[in-house]
Amino acid sequence: MSEPPVAPSALLAGRTVLVTGATGVGVGAGVVAAVAALGARLVLNGLGDAELEPVLARWPDAIGVVGDVSDPAAVERMLDSAQERAGVPLDGLVNNAGVGLTRRAHEADAGDFDRVHDVDVRGVWAVSRGFARRLIAAGGRGAIVNVSSVHARATEDRYAIYASAKAAVEGLTRGMAVELGPHAIRVNAIAPGYVHSEQGLELLAAVTADAAAWARRTVERDQALPEPIGALDCGWAAGFLLSDLAHGVSGQSLAIDAGMTAQLTRRDAPV
Ligand SMILES: NC(=O)c1ccc[n+]([C@@H]2O[C@H](COP(=O)([O-])OP(=O)(O)OC[C@H]3O[C@@H](n4cnc5c(N)ncnc54)[C@H](O)[C@@H]3O)[C@@H](O)[C@H]2O)c1
Repeated sequence: MSEPPVAPSALLAGRTVLVTGATGVGVGAGVVAAVAALGARLVLNGLGDAELEPVLARWPDAIGVVGDVSDPAAVERMLDSAQERAGVPLDGLVNNAGVGLTRRAHEADAGDFDRVHDVDVRGVWAVSRGFARRLIAAGGRGAIVNVSSVHARATEDRYAIYASAKAAVEGLTRGMAVELGPHAIRVNAIAPGYVHSEQGLELLAAVTADAAAWARRTVERDQALPEPIGALDCGWAAGFLLSDLAHGVSGQSLAIDAGMTAQLTRRDAPV
């Protein structure tokens, strides 16, 4: 279930939250919707103006900032522009931007490896670094939520390089939590399993001949709770970790996987 059981509160009122890769159809869209519903001011990052345009039409009060997260110089320009336009330091960050790869490690080339690690790891580091430096300089407190994946813990055929990147994201999460704790900045991660969306199904067609069957099998066999995970499920968890309700939580990764990584065997495994 994605809809909240009660009306969302103003849990993030007064906060200014940057969401990277906010123009996608999956996890990021749910994070943006949840963070907005919880009352934060949104700063939305996209790779270009064309990608940002429809998202800013949907969230007209948001500040849009263009920048490739894997390019540290572009990240610095983006953060300067965001802070100047917001008029206050950003005090929340969701490192959502990410790319996937479905090629076996021994069949991939250096370009595949670099593309995934540049965006998924270097991007998280570069944006977190710039965010933390500015917030520390302003004497503020805040929170970072990194979007990891179940692949950080256990993986499957064709995901080794993606898994290595998400494992690095979880290492950064713990390490930066240690280093930024004294500055009153908490750092956590969410680790989604398969997040269902109709548009996502179209994208899945690139890796499987029958995307609908693949999604059904994942939900019914690979999850303990056989209900689809929605992008908003990830969004509410990110909202909680950004908020003061998570005051005592730092350096953790919260799986949003309907119990997938808790299962030792698949539901229909032969006995
Ligand atoms: N969809 C899932 O089932 C799922 C599961 C686990 C983890 N995740 C993670 O969720 C995050 C969001 O992915 P998604 O699946 O929702 O896909 P998505 O394609 O809908 O979103 C990814 C976004 O990242 C942006 N992006 C890519 N490279 C960028 C860069 N260099 N700089 C700035 N933005 C960039 C894209 O433009 C897009 O807006 C990723 O980190 C992904 O690894 C997704």
